Amino acid sequence: MKKQGKRSNRLVLVPGSFQGHLNPMLQLGTILYSQGFSITVAHTKFNSPNPSNHPDFNFLTISYAAYDSELSSGNILALILRLNVNCKALFQECLARLTEKQNSDEEKISCIIYDELMYFSSGGYRDEASEHYLAHGGITAFISRDATVPTSEGNNFLQGLGSKDLVPGFYPLRLKDLPFSKFGSLETMTQVVKELRNTRKSSAIIYNTIDFLEQSSLARTLQQCHLPLFSIGPLHKFAPALSTILFDEDISCMRWLDEQTNDNKIIYVSLGSITQIDENELAEMAWGLANKESPFLWVVRSGSVRGSEWIESLPEGFEEAIGQRGCIVKWAPQKKVLAHAKVGGFWSHCGWNSTMESISEGVPIICRQNSGDQRVNGRYISNVWRVGLEMENELNRREVERVVRRLMVDKEGLEIRQNAKELKEKIQLCVREDGSSYNSLNELVKFIKSL
Ligand code: UDX
Repeated sequence: MKKQGKRSNRLVLVPGSFQGHLNPMLQLGTILYSQGFSITVAHTKFNSPNPSNHPDFNFLTISYAAYDSELSSGNILALILRLNVNCKALFQECLARLTEKQNSDEEKISCIIYDELMYFSSGGYRDEASEHYLAHGGITAFISRDATVPTSEGNNFLQGLGSKDLVPGFYPLRLKDLPFSKFGSLETMTQVVKELRNTRKSSAIIYNTIDFLEQSSLARTLQQCHLPLFSIGPLHKFAPALSTILFDEDISCMRWLDEQTNDNKIIYVSLGSITQIDENELAEMAWGLANKESPFLWVVRSGSVRGSEWIESLPEGFEEAIGQRGCIVKWAPQKKVLAHAKVGGFWSHCGWNSTMESISEGVPIICRQNSGDQRVNGRYISNVWRVGLEMENELNRREVERVVRRLMVDKEGLEIRQNAKELKEKIQLCVREDGSSYNSLNELVKFIKSL
């Protein structure tokens, strides 16, 4: 895969500072490196990737260290705003240092590719003749943005926020699915969204999605932005496996999966790298899983249960109740888990990476969305692609049992499983030679070379 020899163009990649944003950008870097580009990753001090996992890349530190209070406040939108204000000048300094070294063709910067949350990267390159920015994001974020910002066109959906009414023109999204909740105040959300719209000042937009998954929203974005769009997902299918960046994987769960008797019976439970739950939710999840016959592999990140270090607040009697029928780890090799024959369902918070990883392996999803784009993703999973079920009611053990049964035992689940299998086959075609994502990736490489 790796092309040796002289590299003509340097790309500066600016990943978002969260696990779910770092992974796809580093995957993109790996793919573009294999196409002959030099890669520099400009990253913040907090949640920084480990350079030793990526020996082919150069790394530049944007020396912004988030305050502990910001990181622990859970107010991600406020954190994003501050980060963008604070990083703009620091990033320009980084670029200046990099451009000073530009004494050969090899070091020439062709473009900057930035995660849409890192919009400070836009407009920072001194040599305007070479100023090209490729925004990199997930299409679902765009859908949400268009639907939710109260705009001058009068699309003010705020009055009905929280209701089950459909958002006009955005089927199957309901007002309650719009990504306002839990991410901070409405004012902060509106401010961030306005900034995010600047991605449309870029030269192109790269999406970690597949054309057929969301044709109408891609068409709408194209119409609004008049920019080349490249849908090159799922990125993890093009990039070789990268070691997990921020957490240590516990691979013992793969042995536990191997030891299970029947295929497609395990429920894999993971709420991604940001979501937190409280002790009561932990207990209800635990009893809901324990009371069912489906075995489960459950990821509980350190610090993800408020007030606990890990799982010390699990209810008494739980371990005895599950015996060998459950396995709990702090972090799993998720892509391998989802590809394992024993896994038959994924209880997910519907982060975009988890969504893409699950549908690529044909694993149906129980959607328990938390915030941001996750509600939108969950609606697509359950109502458009029909490869999952939403767990919408209050989280308690009976609800967990009910939804697990619907997916893993009932006839309804059979149909969903079949849809998931068919979706996986369609995705496989898209990443093969002449598939839509494969071709789009080649177009992207040509596009960057033409800049
Ligand atoms: C964040 C946002 O929360 C999400 O809404 C947005 O779509 C992307 O950024 P995160 O919550 O971490 O992401 O979820 P997700 O996008 O699913 O990414 C999690 C990543 O961590 C996945 O690539 C998954 O494979 C990986 N993971 C998760 C592991 O490797 N092991 C685990 O145990 C859990």
